[in-house]
Amino acid sequence: MSTTFTIDTAISRANPTPAPMKRLTVPAIAARKGGEPIVMLTAYTARMAQLLDAQCDMLLVGDSLGQVIYGLPSTLAVTLDMMCTHGAAVVRGSYRSVVIVDMPFGSYEESPQTAFRAASRIMAETGAAGVKLEGGEAMAPTVAFLSARGIPVCGHVGLTPQAVNALGGYGARGRSEAEGAKILADAGAIADAGAFALVVEGVVEPLARAITAKVACPVIGIGASSACDGQVLVTEDMLGMFERTARFVKRYDDLAGRISAAVEAYAGEVRSRSFPEDAQVYAPKAPASGA
Ligand code: KIV
Repeated sequence: MSTTFTIDTAISRANPTPAPMKRLTVPAIAARKGGEPIVMLTAYTARMAQLLDAQCDMLLVGDSLGQVIYGLPSTLAVTLDMMCTHGAAVVRGSYRSVVIVDMPFGSYEESPQTAFRAASRIMAETGAAGVKLEGGEAMAPTVAFLSARGIPVCGHVGLTPQAVNALGGYGARGRSEAEGAKILADAGAIADAGAFALVVEGVVEPLARAITAKVACPVIGIGASSACDGQVLVTEDMLGMFERTARFVKRYDDLAGRISAAVEAYAGEVRSRSFPEDAQVYAPKAPASGA
């Protein structure tokens, strides 16, 4: 008798999509400037990636996983190990979307060389198509260094959560003329350095519009403007998993409420012994006929 054990990947939890779709590419995303809006959401797990993949063009393994998955107070304590583990899971769970992994705080700011070591590890260990890093003019040489060495980079300007201590909070940016001009210059520098796309977060609407008009790469807004070339949200925010979110989040569901209701129903049935029912228990083998 054969002892070979074959996993039916067409129906296993690991890989439920029977016919893999062709994955979009970074150049295809870059070519969407001014065209069909880019749909981007965050994903941190293979299962969420499976659920989002067909509707999204890009999946971002954001360092927001620090708060969403690990309950950290900010993104500052997120590590390269965390990003590699979750990045690989999201790549395994998706077939169509371009997967981008955030570079965590401290892994890229010191020098372009340091950034290359961290980014190349992310690329090798996850199979992602590129990385995202936060920062403006000061990060432009790093964006150029990585881009010239085959690592596609998505920039991130405006409200940059890794700089929360320097910014003094998570409030909207670009309210003053001087701050708006600085963010516009940051966006231009990152795009000119070779970023294939640019996330613009938490800035006043006219500034997001101006950045989108100015830079050559697609601008993906979050708390920005409908004039951007695409939009991104943290998936758990838009699904209603959290009671408190930023003003720019639109809730498309109330998963927190629905999970609480489902768990309440389960707990009640366990306590009243009405779960499991006959459908959820195994019947003994029927005796062989004629026995
Ligand atoms: O970490 C993240 O999820 C992000 C998005 C909010 C853009 O950077």
